[in-house]
Amino acid sequence: MHTQFINLNTLTKNEVALKLKEAADILKCDGLVAFPTETVYGLGANAFSEKAIKKIFIAKNRPCDNPLIVHIGNKEDVYNLAIDVPPLAISIMDKFWPNALTIVLKKKNIISSSASGGLDTVAIRMPKNEIARSLINFCGFPVAAPSANTSTKPSPTLAKYVYEDLSGKIDMILDGGACSLGIESTVIEVSNDSITILRPGSITKNMLKEVCENVILDKFLLTNTMNSKVEPKSPGMKYKHYAPNANITLVCGCSNKISAYITKCLIDDKKNNIKSIVVAPSEHIHNYANFTLLDIGSIKNLDEIARNLFTILRKCDEIFASKVYIEGFLECEIGLAIMNRLKKASGYTIINVD
Ligand code: TXA
Ligand code: MG
Repeated sequence: MHTQFINLNTLTKNEVALKLKEAADILKCDGLVAFPTETVYGLGANAFSEKAIKKIFIAKNRPCDNPLIVHIGNKEDVYNLAIDVPPLAISIMDKFWPNALTIVLKKKNIISSSASGGLDTVAIRMPKNEIARSLINFCGFPVAAPSANTSTKPSPTLAKYVYEDLSGKIDMILDGGACSLGIESTVIEVSNDSITILRPGSITKNMLKEVCENVILDKFLLTNTMNSKVEPKSPGMKYKHYAPNANITLVCGCSNKISAYITKCLIDDKKNNIKSIVVAPSEHIHNYANFTLLDIGSIKNLDEIARNLFTILRKCDEIFASKVYIEGFLECEIGLAIMNRLKKASGYTIINVD
């Protein structure tokens, strides 16, 4: 299959609208279109078409029990997809949508069981990105879209990474530039009086607390879900994820001990002819002057680190690293989402040096 790659950044407003209409026509005919969102690029299909949904799972090589997020262009569209929308969910939508927040609700039958991974719920998000929302509105139906990467690879924050993973497997890639947040949406479940975070993202626990005091972290977020015998509520959390080809070791603890530990590993690897690199925040790069290093951004700006995270993981492959040591971050605010992705990328190879 030929994949059209459309660079929207060089087009006028009218030309962009024409291309988005073309993309919507592809989706109407059960094709697949990758598009930018504020979090990561999504691989879109008509959420009401069984045929199109099946194509997503094939193109991504995605396990069929991992349900898709359905993207809508207007808040009211929730009522076409979900039953029993609790008042708390409505307050949350009013406060946070459009943005990087996905709400899991009881589904209507119009959502097929292949889209919902066999669950009786559906995950819904209204994206903020203008291109994403215009595309959905041109379609006139909701767009199911997982991250537009091959399963297990880091989520794509640039269109070129979508092309690397999926060219020849999908109809069109819309290049809208770098994703502004760079980390996938927060996924929550809502009851009458509590919110459970199933996947952390840039809408943090403290932000959600502004709407409801009772915000719980799903217990699977605190453990290694990959070897757990109990099913996590968000099926995607149990799979290997976000991983480059290199073996990743996440090193946590106090800063001095981290750099001493990593330096020793880098020296040993060099002796053994192993191509290893270190990923560290800007403030710590001077600790690794003689080694190959990727700067993930300032530790004072965790939003920047979240934005760079997946690009850095992709770069590890671009420079053919076989081992990567990554300095850990504090698990508060968006640091929780960063560490969740890093733990998964490392396959839970975590060294605590304290
Ligand atoms: O930011 C995002 O959420 C991006 C952009 C494209 O919107 N999408 C994304 O989709 O990250 P995906 O498929 O890569 O991750 C969706 C996550 C998975 O962990 C999946 O298990 C969970 O959401 N999920 C989807 N439907 C669910 C449901 N009904 N119940 C619980 N978890 C669900
Ligand atoms: Mg994904």
